[in-house]
Amino acid sequence: THTVFSGIQPSGGIHVGNLLGALRNWVSLQDQYPCYFCIVDYHAITVPYDPRELPQRVRDAVLVNVAAGLDPNRSVIFVQSQVPQHTELAWLFNCITPLGQLQRMTQFKDKARQHAEAVNAGLLNYPVLQAADILLYKADLVPVGEDQVQHIELTRDIARRFNSLFGPTFPEPEAYLAKGARIMALDDPTRKMSKSEPRGAIGMLDPPEVIREKVRSAVTDPGPAGAEMSPGVLNLFTLLELTAPADVVAHFRAAYSDGTIRYVELKQALADALVELVTPIQERYRELSARPGTVEEVLAAGGERARKVASQVLAEVRDRMGLPVWA
Ligand code: TYM
Repeated sequence: THTVFSGIQPSGGIHVGNLLGALRNWVSLQDQYPCYFCIVDYHAITVPYDPRELPQRVRDAVLVNVAAGLDPNRSVIFVQSQVPQHTELAWLFNCITPLGQLQRMTQFKDKARQHAEAVNAGLLNYPVLQAADILLYKADLVPVGEDQVQHIELTRDIARRFNSLFGPTFPEPEAYLAKGARIMALDDPTRKMSKSEPRGAIGMLDPPEVIREKVRSAVTDPGPAGAEMSPGVLNLFTLLELTAPADVVAHFRAAYSDGTIRYVELKQALADALVELVTPIQERYRELSARPGTVEEVLAAGGERARKVASQVLAEVRDRMGLPVWA
């Protein structure tokens, strides 16, 4: 059996990439295993952000996740800062993690370039906190998109190093990837769809007209004849495959092969499928938001369940590290 952990940053609108790359797997894994799903607010503050907006983003993240099918009765749904043991374990892990390994993380290098004027120590230590998130629950299965694989590898290294220094304590977690593990931005298919670039992303809460417009203007340069699909076209096919009925997908695959494909029609079909995908989730989201106290109820229960496990594991870790609770 397994224990599942995954997280999402409350740093802007959750998009279809998050859904197809991660959230969909979260929903199906909760039928099989104990699951922990965390809104990682301490990760979100490693880049410049607006403190007045953060609480609402956390609320929205909870509501969108529940609307998409996470079940607070089966899964432990909580916010990272509700459980102080995350940052405590992160400190302990910082003390067994080589600086050079953090400096080589590709996501750190990317973000350090993007936010060159404000690279703080939290951004460097980000993946150590992520390792603490996972290992605090001794989780061994981590459903994520492809961009998180390197962070999961670091988590394995930290677990292995801890175990060899202080005795067998942690499992070595594995990433669990979906078919949609890497959805690209519609306006620039060489970059991944991302919360910080909403123009190229289909937001889970985007109204249908916005979705249709974003799909209509998606990049579909054909690429050289006879060659592989261009990145933009490939991305549209990936999305179609994950959202549209099989006969629709087969129709456009055949049209692509015999060269009769019309991208206007492909985009029309994809927009229909995407609207159909998000509409019921948006309806659930509106129902849940209209009920006062939904977020508080989910988080009160989730926070308590998470803290119970977290405090036990942290006590074990401290003990092994020669840090008993003094008096
Ligand atoms: P975040 O908030 O960027 O994304 C949440 C999840 O969505 C996946 N994802 C994508 N999948 C496919 N295509 C895309 N374009 C795309 N964009 C995002 C991400 O891979 C992720 O699974 N560091 C993490 C949050 C985190 C975490 C953790 C995850 C913190 N602690 C512990 C797992 C375990 C992040 O920033 O995800």
